[in-house]
Amino acid sequence: MSHVSVLLHESVDALLRSSGTIFVDATLGGGGHTAEILSRRKDIKLYAFDLDEERLAEARTRFAVEIADGRLILIHGNYGDIRERLKEVGVNAVDGILIDAGVSSFQIDQAERGFSFAKNGPLDMRMDQSQPFSAYNLVNEWPQEDLEKIFFKYGEERFSRKIAGRIVERRSSEPIADTATLSNIIRGAVPRDPKGIHPATRVFQAIRIVVNKELESIEKVLQEIPSLLNPGGVFAAISFHSLEDRPIKERLKFLTAACICPPTIMTCPRCNKPEGELVQRKPIIPTDEEISQNPRARSAKLRVFLKNT
Ligand SMILES: C[S@@+](CC[C@H](N)C(=O)[O-])C[C@H]1O[C@@H](n2cnc3c(N)ncnc32)[C@H](O)[C@@H]1O
Repeated sequence: MSHVSVLLHESVDALLRSSGTIFVDATLGGGGHTAEILSRRKDIKLYAFDLDEERLAEARTRFAVEIADGRLILIHGNYGDIRERLKEVGVNAVDGILIDAGVSSFQIDQAERGFSFAKNGPLDMRMDQSQPFSAYNLVNEWPQEDLEKIFFKYGEERFSRKIAGRIVERRSSEPIADTATLSNIIRGAVPRDPKGIHPATRVFQAIRIVVNKELESIEKVLQEIPSLLNPGGVFAAISFHSLEDRPIKERLKFLTAACICPPTIMTCPRCNKPEGELVQRKPIIPTDEEISQNPRARSAKLRVFLKNT
């Protein structure tokens, strides 16, 4: 899989609409966005978060100069805790926040991280390897009804009941310990669709979302917008599926609405006072050329919020 950062120029252009000097890359990953931001603006401080220690370790080497100069500060933490984590380093407000949600191609490519059904590895899927709860715990310990529920809710998997049943049947004889075993169980539970996506795609997505509390983190960071932004600040978020995009879209709609009153209420303190505006109503999406170079970009959507000055 390619390690090209998705919507790189569009998202960094959006972020740097702010002329402020304190920015956050909430999802460092392979450092593509961080490198682009640092190369375009020499006068800023960039705080880069990741849950994954391996990504931070790579960045310590790659960006040694910027770190030594004090232009880049790495934070091992969840962007859901952005306010507290920034406060710990003396920052109470920022001029821009970029989120490039989800899993990185580096994580998927490393079989030993257990994100991939295409390469066998331990059933893990933790972005943060210091967290005790992994895909192994979920698959081997959760009740059948809960498995069924999350496969349906976070994977939109039509055969969730059957798959959950097969998992419980198998784990009663021995634990399900690797991604190939899980993938084979799923393959055996769903009808063949030669033209469709790999049958394990949806269930793996659901497990990953739950193990890493991905949607909770997005919800939490969205609640910090706009109060964490300075006037004129920017929030730019790239999402890869509708479960991630929906809460972003809803929150930004709320923040930019002129009136949030239910029709029955006569007066509202927020009327005609939106917190900011959207750069454009429809999300920014990758060009056909970007998609052909990087298939992961296919479903990407960038939404950008500008806080009032
Ligand atoms: C899509 S990748 C980012 C790629 C990056 N923008 C680049 O240019 O290489 C997402 C990264 O965010 C991290 N991540 C995901 N959820 C996170 C969270 N809630 N808090 C902090 N980091 C998170 C993942 O570990 C992964 O490394």
